[in-house]
Amino acid sequence: MNIHPISGSIGAVVTNIDLKNPISDRLTEDLRNALDQYLLLTLPDQHLDATQHLKLCEVFGSPIVNPYGPGQPPHPELTHIIKEKDDGAGVFGGGWHTDLSFLEEPPSGSILCAIEVPPYGGDTLFSNQQMAWETLPDPLKAMLDDRKIVHVGKPYGIKWAPPLEEQSMKGSTLRNDPNADRERFHPAILRHPKTQRPGLYLNPTYSLRLDGMSEAESRPILDSIMQHATLPEFCCRISWSAGMVAVWDNFSTQHYAVNDYFGFRREMRRASFSGYSIQDYISSRPQDAS
Ligand SMILES: [Fe+2]
Repeated sequence: MNIHPISGSIGAVVTNIDLKNPISDRLTEDLRNALDQYLLLTLPDQHLDATQHLKLCEVFGSPIVNPYGPGQPPHPELTHIIKEKDDGAGVFGGGWHTDLSFLEEPPSGSILCAIEVPPYGGDTLFSNQQMAWETLPDPLKAMLDDRKIVHVGKPYGIKWAPPLEEQSMKGSTLRNDPNADRERFHPAILRHPKTQRPGLYLNPTYSLRLDGMSEAESRPILDSIMQHATLPEFCCRISWSAGMVAVWDNFSTQHYAVNDYFGFRREMRRASFSGYSIQDYISSRPQDAS
């Protein structure tokens, strides 16, 4: 397998590999190490079916069912993300976010397979949150040190539900769930269990406020941090082709699906996995390192 970085900050393209074949222990190790290092892997021309998609998932952890977008039987772990050509609503995953950060146990990563892509547009941006933490000004670092951030599932709850016309995938996602409005507290900084690199863990889609501060008090601080967290220097932008696969670390990155392909259909298949748990990160906080 060959690995080539796709930007100076995040992501690598992996070639000379066919994930339709059985995945050896050696290859499993290499793929895990590559994800730990680059946080995002793209693998063009794989054309995986549902079973192969789940097999790849098992390289990194156990596939989990997205409670707000379960797949159809027999593969509830596989969510089809479809935007029809005449769908003028928002795109699923539009806006910077990490997947399902408002859950008690957010997934540690996701794998997206491109089934049908528009002739242009429909890219996804990723941002390296370890680099964002490293370069955060010291006063903001001090604000977050040992701090928890409150996350809520705004698009899926009642209290912050977006207007109906702006909702993506209305028919296939669970909405108006009061449990999604429940506040969940996660550390603002997560240290990667393997590489020991600390990263920011917050995002504008689900992060509501800093623990110990109101929404209004938190807003300017969060806005400032989030603006920093997605500076172009920390980002890469990937263009999809049919059959392409992307795997990302959901605790050390944010991503953004660009909604610029009205008039074209796009279909992706997503699986999320629980590999490292959020406790694996919490148990290795920055001050614990030598
Ligand atoms: Fe996402």
